[in-house]
Amino acid sequence: GLKIATIGGGSSYTPEIIEGFIKRYAELPVKDLYLVDIEAGKWKLEIVGQLARRMVKEAGVDINIHLTLDRREAIKDADFVTTQFRVGLLEARIRDEKIPLRYNCIGQKTTGAGGMAKALRTIPVILDIAKDMAELAPDAWLINFTNPSGIITEAVSKYTDIKVLGLCNVPIVMEKMTAEILETAADKLRMDFVGLNHLVWGRAAYLNGENKINEVITKLASGNFRGVKNIPDYEWGTDLLNSVGMLPCPYHRYYYLTDLMLKEEIKAARNEGTRGEVVKKLEASLFELYKNEDLKVKPKELEERGGQYYSDAACDLISAIYNDKGTIHYVNVKNNGTVNCLPNDSVIERTSYVGKNGATPLNSDPLPSQIKGLLQVVNEYETLTIEAGVHGDYNAAFQALTIHPLVESSIVKDLLADIISENIDYLPQF
Ligand code: NAD
Ligand code: G6P
Ligand code: MN
Repeated sequence: GLKIATIGGGSSYTPEIIEGFIKRYAELPVKDLYLVDIEAGKWKLEIVGQLARRMVKEAGVDINIHLTLDRREAIKDADFVTTQFRVGLLEARIRDEKIPLRYNCIGQKTTGAGGMAKALRTIPVILDIAKDMAELAPDAWLINFTNPSGIITEAVSKYTDIKVLGLCNVPIVMEKMTAEILETAADKLRMDFVGLNHLVWGRAAYLNGENKINEVITKLASGNFRGVKNIPDYEWGTDLLNSVGMLPCPYHRYYYLTDLMLKEEIKAARNEGTRGEVVKKLEASLFELYKNEDLKVKPKELEERGGQYYSDAACDLISAIYNDKGTIHYVNVKNNGTVNCLPNDSVIERTSYVGKNGATPLNSDPLPSQIKGLLQVVNEYETLTIEAGVHGDYNAAFQALTIHPLVESSIVKDLLADIISENIDYLPQF
């Protein structure tokens, strides 16, 4: 039977992935699911683990749910390892959001300075996990969901021999939105996504073989369509959309509407709190719900989190590998020359075929200037962040922030000093 280890199993997102495995049980018969956490997350693991057990019992599927703080026991002989941990928990996320705001700079958990801080904390842990895998489950796949998903996946891809793919719910959310705009079903569409995680563009939207992207952009400019829960749905404006000629992802608002987003963040920080502070309250009420022994399914309230549809992405991907399906998925995968303006060893977010040997990104036509410039800069920021994260290279960290389009260069020295000193407990490499 299949063995799966989920690192960060105490996450409030866990009912998502449990539901995903339940729904696909016939094609993906998971026998043992190990939910792994650390001492600080033990209470969460207990609560969400009990809910997971009630969910599989209610569904009548035979998945053994194991709750453990022993990561090695969980990884040993696993077929798939999925990661959804957060080093430093929500307190660290809130710092990632607040530190840049002191400098009047975008404070976001994956995009810009906050994302770099999260990457620096996470890279040592993911490399440790990869080391355990190399020793205890060398043939297993690592399906990474931990943010910044593209950077973390790239660190593993560059510095280990582990088979790895990264995931994000954003492409699926964009596909569903496109389906809504075109008044069709998402499974009738095939999206051509290209870019990096949280910097991905929908270049084409094929419906019955016909590219409908222009219609999508026109309708998007005049309508009101929901993106992800954690980002305000500010309108893009017709000129912006037409000049890009592609579907931007919700995170593009930080680049295309920077001032507006910064003002919104400053206002939120003063009122309801940063998104991390809001999520802290949300999480507390979710765990109250999860404690209720009458709850035996994934509660609706989980939809208030930004990671909606995560389990569809993760479980469909795992099933495609396990069953050697050769189906289309939107994943973070080694570029390998498919996007010719990016290095071969960069990890890109791309429409890919997936089967038992993993993901093969589709070849891409050369990218137009309007997306190539931004993409290349952010890709090099990511490369520098990985060097800083792996080697504790201060100069690389300094330049990562300096070249980042959302960071004003004269604040870098002080901003970086704050990031390092306030995260020092989680930065063994520095
Ligand atoms: P969370 O703060 O609830 O953390 C999840 C769990 O990780 C906690 O129970 C915590 O105790 C545990 N943890 C921390 N350090 C650990 C370690 N070293 N080993 C094992 N477990 C550890 O976070 P969350 O809000 O549930 O999000 C989890 C992760 O998933 C984050 O990294 C988040 O950014 C990511 N995420 C990604 C996407 C995506 O689209 N890729 C969407 C949503 C969330
Ligand atoms: C989605 C992203 C994730 C992100 C999450 C935030 O937008 O794709 O990568 O982590 O939502 O959600 P939250 O509810 O934690 O703010
Ligand atoms: Mn994401």
